[in-house]
Amino acid sequence: MSVLLTGIATLVSNDPEQGTGPLGLRHAAALVIDDDRVGWVGDAAGAPACDERVDVQGRTVLPGFVDSHSHLVFAGDRAAEFAARMAGGRYRAGGIADTVAATRAASDQTLRERARRLRAEMLRGGTTTVEVKSGYGLTVADEARSLRVAGEVGDEVTFLGAHVVPPEHAGDRTGYLALVTGPMLNACAPLAGWVDVFCERGAFDADEAEAVLVAGAARGLGLRVHANQLGPGPGVQLAVRLGAASADHCTHLTSADVDALAGSGTVATLLPGAEFATRSPYPDARRLLAAGCRVALATDCNPGTSYTTSMAFCVALAVREMGLTVDEAVYAATMGGAWALRRSDVGRLSPGARADVQVLDAPDHVHLAYRPGVDLVHAVWRSGRQVVGSGGTRGG
Ligand code: NIG
Ligand code: FE
Repeated sequence: MSVLLTGIATLVSNDPEQGTGPLGLRHAAALVIDDDRVGWVGDAAGAPACDERVDVQGRTVLPGFVDSHSHLVFAGDRAAEFAARMAGGRYRAGGIADTVAATRAASDQTLRERARRLRAEMLRGGTTTVEVKSGYGLTVADEARSLRVAGEVGDEVTFLGAHVVPPEHAGDRTGYLALVTGPMLNACAPLAGWVDVFCERGAFDADEAEAVLVAGAARGLGLRVHANQLGPGPGVQLAVRLGAASADHCTHLTSADVDALAGSGTVATLLPGAEFATRSPYPDARRLLAAGCRVALATDCNPGTSYTTSMAFCVALAVREMGLTVDEAVYAATMGGAWALRRSDVGRLSPGARADVQVLDAPDHVHLAYRPGVDLVHAVWRSGRQVVGSGGTRGG
C-alpha cells in the first residue's frame, strides 16, 4: 500500500540530500509512504502515482518527535508538591518516594491504563518514538512489572532501579545496590534494552552509579545516565567514560564536562520541562553546540519534575530559554532523540526511514516555537499507519 502526501508547504526531512541545510528543507514537496517506510521524497510536481493520495493543503510535514527520556509508569501525581514549589519551595529528589508508594499500591491494570493514556497523549502531540523507564517500583517485583508496562507502551525500555534508595533500605545503601545489581537486574535485564542511574547528590554517587552501569552493561544493556541535574557532579564524565548513549539533564556543566561530551559518542539530552517545573536555571544549549556536542531534547515526562508529554512545548522552551534556533531545536527533538537512542530508522524522512510522519497545521516548522502552547498537530502516521487525524483531502 502506497500513500502520496502532497501539497506540503514545508517538508523537514532532516536529510541534507533531500533539501537545504541540516533539516533538508524543501518547499512545495511531496512524500510517499510505502507500507511502513518512506518510499520517496521530492518536488510535488514530480511525484509518482500511488494507491492513495492525501493533499495536506499547504501544511508542514516533519518527522515524528523522538522522545528519548520519559517515566510513564507511575501512579498518583505530585501537584501539591509542584504548587508548593511555585510558592517558593525547592525541589528535592526525596519526592520520588511519594510516587514510589503510590506506584507500589496500584494494580497492574491501573499502571497499564495510565501509561497508555500518557502514550496516547504523546502520539496526539506528534511523538512517534518514545523511551520509557521504570524507577518508581524499586522492588524486584515492582520494577519488573513496571518494565512490562513500559514494554507495552514504549519503543525503547530502560531499567531505572537505581532511581533513589527506597525508604525500606534507608539505612542500607549497600544492600540496595546489591539488590539492584543482583536479583533486580536478573529479573529486569530481559525486559529492558537500557540501564539508567540517577547520579546526583541525594541519589547515587559516582562509584555507586558506575557499579550499576557496569552490571547492566555486563547483561547486555545500553547505558544512559541522569547527570548533573541539580548541581555540578560526576555524572556526565562517568557517562562519557563508560560510553553511554546519552547523558540526560546536563543542567550544571563545567567546561571539562562540555569538552568530554564534545569528544564523545554520548549525546547531551536536555530536558527543559524539568527546569520549567522546578524553576531552575536552564542549561546553555548553544554552548554545547558551539563545542561540537550532539544535543537531543526530550520531555522527561514524570510526576515530579516535568509532567508534560509535549515535545512541542520542549522545543519552544529550548528556543526561548536555552539559546537554540528553531531549526536546531526541531532537529534536537527529532534526529537528536534518534541519536540518543542509537536509532537510525527514525528522526528523519528519507527513503528507507520508518514512515513516522507528523503534519502540522502551519506553513512551516517555526510555528512550533512561535505558537507555544497551541496544538498544531493535524495528522500523524506511525510506521506508515495513520494514527491521528484525517490527513486532509483524499483521492485515489
Ligand atoms: O528525571 N531526576 C530524576 N528523576 C526524575 C524526577 C523524578 C521525580 O521527581 O519523580 C527526573 O527529573
Ligand atoms: Fe528523568
